[in-house]
Amino acid sequence: MINRPIRVALAGVGSCASSFVQAVTQAGASGPAPAGVMHELIGGYRLRDVEFAAAFDVDRNKIGLDLAQAITVHPTVAVRHLEAPPTGAQVRPGPLLDGLEGRLSDVVPADPRCASLSEVEVTAVLRESAVDVLVCFLPTGAREAVRAYARACAEAGVAFVNATPEPVANCPELSERFTVQGVPLLGDDLRSHLGATTLHTALLDLLHSRGIRVTDTYQLNVGGNTDFLNLSDPGRSGAKQMSKRRALTNAGIDASEVAAGPNGYVKYLGDRKVCFLRIEGETILDAPLSMEIRLEVEDSPNAAAVVANAVRIAKTAADQGHVGVVHPVCAFLFKSPPVGMRETEALHSFQEYVEKTRRAPDTTVSTGLPHTPSRQEHSE
Ligand SMILES: NC(=O)c1ccc[n+]([C@@H]2O[C@H](COP(=O)([O-])OP(=O)(O)OC[C@H]3O[C@@H](n4cnc5c(N)ncnc54)[C@H](O)[C@@H]3O)[C@@H](O)[C@H]2O)c1
Repeated sequence: MINRPIRVALAGVGSCASSFVQAVTQAGASGPAPAGVMHELIGGYRLRDVEFAAAFDVDRNKIGLDLAQAITVHPTVAVRHLEAPPTGAQVRPGPLLDGLEGRLSDVVPADPRCASLSEVEVTAVLRESAVDVLVCFLPTGAREAVRAYARACAEAGVAFVNATPEPVANCPELSERFTVQGVPLLGDDLRSHLGATTLHTALLDLLHSRGIRVTDTYQLNVGGNTDFLNLSDPGRSGAKQMSKRRALTNAGIDASEVAAGPNGYVKYLGDRKVCFLRIEGETILDAPLSMEIRLEVEDSPNAAAVVANAVRIAKTAADQGHVGVVHPVCAFLFKSPPVGMRETEALHSFQEYVEKTRRAPDTTVSTGLPHTPSRQEHSE
C-alpha cells in the first residue's frame, strides 16, 4: 500500500516547527520506527507521509527561505538533531496582528509586509497549495493572529491543529465555523508528549486511584527558548496559566490557586525545560505523604511527538467526515480540551479513536505489493 501524502502547513516557524520538520525527516529515513512515535499507522498514514506544503512567519530573516532552512534561523534554539533536506515549501509572510507583542519584538525583526496582510491572503495560499492540515505554532498571547489563521483554515476547508493556548476549540464562535464548513478542529494548547502536565496529571491519577487525598501541589517550569522568553511577559502568559490549571482541574483537584505555569526565562537552558513538581497528600490515618520530582526535557521535540499524532488524526478525521472539534482525541493531545477527561480516560479515548480508524474504510491506494508489518505494528 502507498498512502496519499498529508499536505501540512505551519503557521509560526520557530522551535516546535523545527523539531517537527526534523521528526518527519527522521521518519522518512529507513530503519525502525523512531522512538516517541506512539503509532506507526493512524488512519492509514505514517509520519513519513507528511509533506510540507506551506509555511507562514513574520520574521524577515525567515520569509523567503525554504522551511528546512528557516527552522535553523536565530532566535530559534531547537537542537539540530539532523539536517532536513529542502521541503519545497517557502516561508511566506503572514498577517502580523499581535504576533510579536512584548519581549518577542526585541528578538524577532518583523517583515514590514506583514502589517498589511490579513486572513484573506492566508486562505488564498492554503487553497493554492492544496493544504490538508495547518498546525498553528504562533506565540502564546497572539490571540488575534491565532484567530485569523483559524478563520482562514475554516474558510479554505483546512483542518486546524491549535498548539497554542489561545482559545479556538474552546471558542464557540470559531468551533461553530469549523462545524458549519465541515472541517475538523483540534485544540487547545498542545500537551508535551512526556512533559510537566502529563507527568503531573498521571501522578494525580495514581494517587486518586489509591484513595489518597491531594492537599497541595505546585508545578514550576523554567526554560530558555523564545516560548519562555515570550511567556516571561505577564501580558502574554495568561492563557498558558489558565490552560495548565484547567488540565489539573480535569485531573480531579481544585487547581484554582495552584501555582502551575511558566516561571522564568533562563537563557542558557536553550531548548531545555526544567520542571519542579511537588505533591503533598494524606493517606490512611491522615498520614502525610509528599513527593518532589525534577523533570528535564528538550522542550520542542516533546511537542513534535504530539503533533506527529495530531496531524494524522486531523487528516483522518477529514477523510472520514468528522467535522468540528474531534473531542475523543483532544483530551489526550491538548491541555485545554473543550471536554476534559482524567489522564487514563483520555488515553483510552485516544487509543480507541486510533483503533477505529483502522477499521474504517481504507484511505490508502493499493500498489498490489505485500505490506511488511513494522516492529511497532507487530507489537500493537
Ligand atoms: N514547546 C512545547 O512543548 C509546547 C507545548 C505546548 C504548546 N506550545 C506552544 O506552541 C507555540 C509555539 O511554540 P514555539 O516554541 O515554536 O515558539 P517560537 O517562539 O519558537 O515560534 C513562534 C514563531 O511564530 C512566529 N510568529 C509570530 N507571529 C506570527 C504571525 N502573526 N504569523 C506567523 N508567524 C508568527 C515567530 O516569528 C516565531 O518564528 C507556543 O504558543 C507554545 O506555547 C509549545
